[in-house]
Amino acid sequence: MRVLIVGGGGREHALAWKLKQEDPTLELFAAPGNPGIAELAECLPIAVSDLAGLEHAAIDRNVDLVVVGPEGPLEAGIVDRFRAAGLAIFGPTKAAAEIETSKAFAKRLMLDAGIPTGRAEMHTTVTAAHEAVHRFGAPVVIKASGLASGKGVIVCRTLAEAEAAVDDILQGNRFGAAGAEVLVEEFMEGEELSVFAITDGVRFVLLPGLQDHKRLLDNDAGPNTGGMGAYAPVSLVDSPAPLAGIIDATLRALAEQGRPFTGLLYAGFMITSTGPRVVEFNCRFGDPETQALMPLVHTNPGLLDLLLASARGALPPAEVTLDGACVATVLAAANYPDTPRTGDVITLPPPEEGVLVFHAGTARDGDGRLVTAGGRVLAASAVGPTVEIAQQRSRAFAGQIDFAGKQMRSDIGMREVNRQHHSPSARASGN
Ligand code: GLY
Repeated sequence: MRVLIVGGGGREHALAWKLKQEDPTLELFAAPGNPGIAELAECLPIAVSDLAGLEHAAIDRNVDLVVVGPEGPLEAGIVDRFRAAGLAIFGPTKAAAEIETSKAFAKRLMLDAGIPTGRAEMHTTVTAAHEAVHRFGAPVVIKASGLASGKGVIVCRTLAEAEAAVDDILQGNRFGAAGAEVLVEEFMEGEELSVFAITDGVRFVLLPGLQDHKRLLDNDAGPNTGGMGAYAPVSLVDSPAPLAGIIDATLRALAEQGRPFTGLLYAGFMITSTGPRVVEFNCRFGDPETQALMPLVHTNPGLLDLLLASARGALPPAEVTLDGACVATVLAAANYPDTPRTGDVITLPPPEEGVLVFHAGTARDGDGRLVTAGGRVLAASAVGPTVEIAQQRSRAFAGQIDFAGKQMRSDIGMREVNRQHHSPSARASGN
């Protein structure tokens, strides 16, 4: 079996690791990959935006499956193009990927289909958006409709902040064409939960939920980032049934619009006092959630078989189990999430049982040294019998990784640890 993974971040490293764990004889290629992936796969120096180059590589290498990591190539239509060339590819078409690439499309779809989500208005002019801000009141959320590298969602505590966010996006052109339309959206109170469904457009396999940590600093302080860590399992909901119901309704709504969704549907839920409501959908695996999920999850059939079956449109039922807990602590470069500094030499401690290091923004310099090459540099994913033990291992290992300007949180998984300490059984046992 020959598989090409498109991408070169921590998510793709975790997927590559999982696929090789399941089948060590797998012939794996990655484009462009990274120094961590290079230990598992042949890395091809092709950018994820170079669809023609990727297509040639897939045909040349005679791959059986292409797995797309990031949203960019999905928005550019890689799945439509590769399918037309007769290649099996895991991911949604360009039209179906709009569930992530156009937040305005996703919101209209949800509102029309009665899917629980925040109230919202979509606007393209500053005046109309300001009026909406005043109708909603503060706090309120302002979103750029298009892809904005995880930076297009601004939670505003005051009306003045919300007006400034609107001005910045619509007038200041902060996100270019991705900000031609803004959403003014109800602020939802609760905890977030990321849930992944592998789907062939009709059937789906629900994977266990994870929690991401978007703020840069401990205790959810500091600016928003692409994600500073994630963990699983999350004991926020008693039953996955309402989440599965929402995924099902979304797949039906997309199919009814002539945009059947294949690949990985990522639902970002807010678990509110009245139940789960959708914050956003993404059209690919989450990052860094995948780095916390892959060391932990077992599926029967295996992940590779599920990805292949999704690409072929015939997903079988699957058993999904979690083996303990996992915490992935992200190490970020100096000056992240603004323009990160690159070129700092990285020193990794000796490998440790139960801890995996997934590479994201790393590169080899001219002397072969591992150096920082992006905002989020590495993730230390540690497994353990509980989130608390996995957290301790992940934090301790991440603390030993050294590079100038390193930034990391030490509290990934804190909500779950608090929940466990305050659970009725912990109280009964005096914990
Ligand atoms: N962890 C957030 C995302 O992947 O979009």
